[in-house]
Amino acid sequence: MATGTRAVTNELQEILLKYGKDRTQLLPILVEINNYFGHIDSNSIIEVSRYTGVPIGEIHGVITFYSFLGQKKRGKFVIRLCRTISCDIAGKEQIVRVLEKELGIRFGETTEDGMFSLEYTNCIGMCNNPPAMLINDKAYGGLTPERVVEILDSFKLSEYQDMFGYGGVK
Ligand code: FES
Repeated sequence: MATGTRAVTNELQEILLKYGKDRTQLLPILVEINNYFGHIDSNSIIEVSRYTGVPIGEIHGVITFYSFLGQKKRGKFVIRLCRTISCDIAGKEQIVRVLEKELGIRFGETTEDGMFSLEYTNCIGMCNNPPAMLINDKAYGGLTPERVVEILDSFKLSEYQDMFGYGGVK
């Protein structure tokens, strides 16, 4: 445990040292920590506060404001379903139901195997093809329950292939 904690601290220090020690660097620092560790834990918040001089409360505020930053560890694949008006009226609720049923979790949760997290997001610029969602950086529009099942299956399959070293279908 001590080794793991030290390793994380070293990695955190490496990230911090890429940026200037001032508050204008706060957001890029938080984004990089979040991308690297999958979340921003309390130790990181304290270290970022020391480094940039930004009070801890203010850092919490920034993390809460941006939906792509989080203090909870997320899954390897973060599914962000758009909840803004075009997607909402185009059947977002049926997509919510199928995602929750297929993954066995509710929005705001992560699967036990650490593979998938479910979150809402605001408009992702695919209003011409709603309902839409992101899985990590990739956008999917025109969603139907059947399409969602296909997409999830393709992620599960590619994960299985990675785990067992198959180089085939992606
Ligand atoms: S409203 Fe959903 S992508 Fe714009």
